[in-house]
Amino acid sequence: MALLLEADPDEAQVHQYLEGAWGFAAQKGNQIVAACVVKLSPNCQSQAELHNIGVLPEYQQQGIGSGLLRFVIERLRQKSLQRIELGTGSFGHQLGFYQRHGFRVEAIWRDHFLNNYSEPIYENGIQHKDMLRLGLTLSVVPER
Ligand SMILES: CC(C)(COP(=O)(O)OP(=O)(O)OC[C@H]1O[C@@H](n2cnc3c(N)ncnc32)[C@H](O)[C@@H]1OP(=O)(O)O)[C@@H](O)C(=O)NCCC(=O)NCCS
Repeated sequence: MALLLEADPDEAQVHQYLEGAWGFAAQKGNQIVAACVVKLSPNCQSQAELHNIGVLPEYQQQGIGSGLLRFVIERLRQKSLQRIELGTGSFGHQLGFYQRHGFRVEAIWRDHFLNNYSEPIYENGIQHKDMLRLGLTLSVVPER
């Protein structure tokens, strides 16, 4: 939970998407240092939502988050999923992180963080208000 709260500070929100979701983790020795939660979209079984990805602060910026995200994307591709979507803040390094892996901005959910989170979320002194919706289309790797 500590890892998941790195990405999503509202524990009630985290509990909402954990049930029935797939969990992925990166381990160093015996310690889990990164985690990612993905869930099939309720209305479309070829689509999944990436709800959470977090790396322990002392292990961030060492390539672990990128490695885990690449692994998750590859696994979902192997499961024949066609699309991954996610929501993130409208500013901050996370936006570049996802775009580097091919995600594109598709929509803005205005006031999402104001209306759905019990506490205000600040990053670099700026309050998160709007959620950007990002999507990645998984190209099918042709069989040999
Ligand atoms: C976002 C997160 C998962 C990225 O994982 P990571 O292991 O730190 O990232 P990587 O080391 O793989 O770095 C990927 C890129 O993001 C950049 N980056 C990562 N953290 C950064 C930070 N705090 N500030 C600026 N850039 C950062 C890296 O510089 C790197 O860029 P490069 O490829 O040009 O060198 C991780 O920082 C994290 O857990 N953050 C807190 C939780 C969070 O915000 N999750 C996403 C919710 S939307």
